[in-house]
Order: sequence, then structure tokens, then C-alpha cells
Amino acid sequence: MLILGIETSCDETSAAVVGYVGEGGRLVALSNIVASQIDTHRLYGGVVPEIAGRAHIEAISNVVERALSEAGVEISDLDGVAVTTHPGLIGALLVGVNFAKAFAFANKLPLISVNHIHAHTAASYLTETPPKPPYLSLVVSGGHTSFYLVKSYTEYEEIGGTRDDAAGEAFDKIGRVIGLQYPAGAAMDKLAHEGIALGEKLDLKLPTPALTGDNLDFSFSGLKTAALNYLNKLAQQNVEVNRPAFAALYTETVCSAIAKKIPEAIKSSGVKQLVMSGGVAANSHLRAAVGAACQKAGAELILPPVSLCGDNGVMVAAQGYYELKAGRVSDSNLNASAEDD
Ligand code: KG4
Ligand code: ZN
Repeated sequence: MLILGIETSCDETSAAVVGYVGEGGRLVALSNIVASQIDTHRLYGGVVPEIAGRAHIEAISNVVERALSEAGVEISDLDGVAVTTHPGLIGALLVGVNFAKAFAFANKLPLISVNHIHAHTAASYLTETPPKPPYLSLVVSGGHTSFYLVKSYTEYEEIGGTRDDAAGEAFDKIGRVIGLQYPAGAAMDKLAHEGIALGEKLDLKLPTPALTGDNLDFSFSGLKTAALNYLNKLAQQNVEVNRPAFAALYTETVCSAIAKKIPEAIKSSGVKQLVMSGGVAANSHLRAAVGAACQKAGAELILPPVSLCGDNGVMVAAQGYYELKAGRVSDSNLNASAEDD
């Protein structure tokens, strides 16, 4: 079975072909084309929704064509077209949804609606050891820091989340203040390694974003405010911040808060397989911290490769495969939505 996946929820126009191979086999990516708009948005320090929508329109036909040709498949070989319908930037989502609708109906193919968060989790189905529901999913991205109990391939129950900002936003916003370009997550990751190697400690204690109590919730606004106050105070005193040491402490605070919730997530859900996905799941410090927490709790951690942590068409096609298998096919009324549900 071959599925075309289309992703346009934020600032990457992506399309991919994923196939299910072999008897009792697994999903493999035959192509993955990602046209990133990051260089354009970087000029503004963040994603500009209007520009994102226009850039998706310019890129989408070519991205889909390349996804098919790189996979070496004809449209007639496809079994379905999956598209991210929610959540995301509405003007950006609409481009992918309308393209997928036209493509599916012109070529008489089933049209499949995919939730972007479920798709991030589905990137794990492309690994050598794909998880089997029920399992736990931790999605850490620019918009989410959430735990889900994945009851079946198409049934997700949110069991924890952030009350305000997400981890990715916390990296991007504070990274920008210390002079890192948007999106700052990957650069902060690198700078934190420099800070660890230098071994210099700051006279600063940052509040944990992990909420206290028997819950799986986070709040990143207090951490962001404390970090901003510290940086502003230094600026007022004309003192230069020790950027590597700051990045190391800030990253450690975020990663240990997320890892701290792992034992409770495993205990309350009763499952022993955890998938961590989303753009921030590419963070090397977070991968190590969550890995250590899973090992201690006797749980298996499944991490998609770093190349499939950010937004991509492969993850959309992978989730689309299971939606189609469950008979969840959409009609021409399919629409995009900015909201999670
Ligand atoms: O999943 P994603 O591509 O888009 C959303 O669905 O939000 O995630 C983007 C986020 C950005 O905030 C970016 O800074 C962050 O992922 N990110 C990282 C790393 N690579 C990307 N954050 C921390 N460390 C990284 N290595
Ligand atoms: Zn995403």
C-alpha cells in the first residue's frame, strides 16, 4: 500500500510517499521532500502566517511532483492521499487541504485527514522497532509539550500538557534574546554543549516548568519570565551574559522538567513503551534525559530519527496509512482547523 502525505501546517511545505512493505512488514519512506521557509521567516524573528500561506501556494505543486518522482511511483500506484488538517496556522493548512482535495478527487483516490500531533507520533512507525498501541506518546514541539495515551493507531487520549507556552517556544523566545537566530532550538542545543564543556556555573536558579503534584502538566511562562529578568538585569548593568553557561542551565532546566514527568506517566498509564517526537525531540540533551528516565523506569524509549522530528510529509503519510486502514476516509467537505480537535 502506498500513501502520499502532505504537510503545510506551519513553515515547511512537505510531501512524501510511504509504503507498507512485506507480509507483516512495516512502513518505509520512499521519498520525503521538505521545502523550508525558515530563511524567509528568520528575517522577522518568527513565522509570519500570511507569508507562510503564500509560500506554501508557490511550493506545493513542485514539492508533490518531486515526492512522486523521487519515490519512483505514478499517481495510479497510490492508494490514498493524507493531509494535515489540524492543528496549525489556518492559512497554511488550507493550502495543503485544498491541494489534497483536488488531487484526491481528480485521481479518484481516498482522501485522509491527519492530526498534526498524531502525525508527529507516527514518525516512530518508520523506525526499526515501531511501537504497538497501547503506548505513551510525548510530543515536544513549537506548539505542544503533551503526553498522550495512544490506545489504538487512531485513538489518542491527552493525559498531560502545557498550561501556556510549549518547550519549543521557550527555546525560540529566549534563544532570540541571547542573539540566536529563529528557530533557536538547534543552536541552543549546540551552545548548551559548549557550556557543559566549559564547566562554568552561573549564579542563577531558574524555576522548573514541571507543575507539582500527580499530574503530567507543564507551565513554561514562569521559566521564560525568570530567564528574561536575568538577561534584562545583566543588560541594564552592561554585563555580558555568559551565553554557553546560560544555554546549558536553561536547557538543563527544560530537559530535567520533562524527564521528571516520565515515571508518573508510566505509572499512571500502566504502559511501558514511550515515543518522544516533535521538533524539540531532536534536542540531544532531551533525548539523553528522557532516555535515562525511561531506563530507570524500566520502559522502552522509541525515538524517530532526528530527520523526522521536525515537520515532514512522511509522518503524515504514516498516520494516514493507519487512518485509511481503519476506514477513516473524508469527503469533499473536509476542512482545515487551527484547533487541536
Ligand atoms: O515540530 P516542529 O517542527 O513544529 C511544530 O509543530 O511546532 O517543531 C519546531 C520547534 C522549534 O521551536 C524549534 O526551535 C525546535 O522545534 N527545535 C529544537 C531543536 N530542533 C528543532 N529545539 C531544541 N533542540 C533542537 N535540537
Ligand atoms: Zn510539528
